[in-house]
Amino acid sequence: MRVLHRQPQQVADQLEAAARDPSIISLAGALPAAELFPVASMRTALEKVLRNDAAQALQYGWPEGKERLLRHIGSPAIVTNGAQEALHLVGRVIVATGALVAVEVPTYASALQSFDLRHARYLPVPRTTAGLDLEALEDAFRAGARVFYLVASGHNPTGGVLDADAHRDILALAERFDAWIVDDQAYGAIVYGEAPPPLRSYGRHLDRIAEIGSFSKVLAPGLRVGWLAGPAELVRKATILKSAIDLETAAFTQLVLAHWLEASTLEEHLAQCLPVYRRRRDALVEALRHEIPDDVAWAPPDGGFSVLVTAPPEVEAEALLPRAIEAGVLIEPASPYFATILAPGAMRLSFSNVAEDRIGDGVRRLARVLRDVLPPRRGALRKPTEWRKT
Ligand SMILES: Cc1ncc(COP(=O)(O)O)c(C=O)c1O
Repeated sequence: MRVLHRQPQQVADQLEAAARDPSIISLAGALPAAELFPVASMRTALEKVLRNDAAQALQYGWPEGKERLLRHIGSPAIVTNGAQEALHLVGRVIVATGALVAVEVPTYASALQSFDLRHARYLPVPRTTAGLDLEALEDAFRAGARVFYLVASGHNPTGGVLDADAHRDILALAERFDAWIVDDQAYGAIVYGEAPPPLRSYGRHLDRIAEIGSFSKVLAPGLRVGWLAGPAELVRKATILKSAIDLETAAFTQLVLAHWLEASTLEEHLAQCLPVYRRRRDALVEALRHEIPDDVAWAPPDGGFSVLVTAPPEVEAEALLPRAIEAGVLIEPASPYFATILAPGAMRLSFSNVAEDRIGDGVRRLARVLRDVLPPRRGALRKPTEWRKT
């Protein structure tokens, strides 16, 4: 499993070791389901590349990426090594050293890692599954932030999805302050109702929207293919930077993906994946509803691969982790997702890569641990006899 570098080393070590133990039910990591990878059609695409396009696939190319793949992304855009490289490039191009950056609280921790490299100073814009705090966004712009990093759909870690009204409000504010929006659409298509379009589709503020996309969640993260799309000048600068960092994204992978996209459609593939993820989401929500003590907060996600669960302040997720592992369930302490406040009780529970029939057991194991550590008055589901033991 991929462990965030914002995570303390001790926590990272525990997560990595436990993720290798098959007896532990892992609600950590938010990995796509391996059994949904389109292996057969990928093999066909791979064979086609080697048969028809080997000279191009095995040769050096250009930093902006293969035209054949960019056709599926739109332009101006640059193909990147996953959305993560796009975040790095955007950070280097539009975030000055030490600049103020408005970020959702919580937000995707590895985006913060990229902006950390710019020594960004964060201004908080609270985000829950209910929506985004627009007043806080306005305050952040007033205080001088000229970049807002947003995961509008399938928000990581809450699973929230903003609607079109919220998109328009955000665009209007960004227009007023001439601020950049970094619109991270890595989870844009992983939505369990209607998937709202990315911000660029509204056709306004186009000179200040940096769209980040990825084939990781919708297809396979092992491809390491994503993109950065936006105004031509941004893409030009990112392209120069990329050529200095890694020359280009692997031509071989890009062409395999391009061939795959020509033979299959993402829509058809997602039509197979989304019902599986939706059922796993439902299983997690159902289990949380029945098992988790009342004073542990959480809200059902409308997209993405995970749920944010917050225990009361006296419970620290990092301290809970070894006990959870001992009980046979892996959870992810979510402090790294909070740029501006401490959130010791927050944990991210992912459902995407767990068989539906193991999710309930995983949550029951976690609930037992929580009831053990919560003070007696808080353990809503605890039986009176157990109370006396603590
Ligand atoms: C919101 C968000 N953006 C970007 C990424 C990076 O994705 P990748 O580099 O695999 O495309 C992730 C991965 O977890 C993510 O959750």
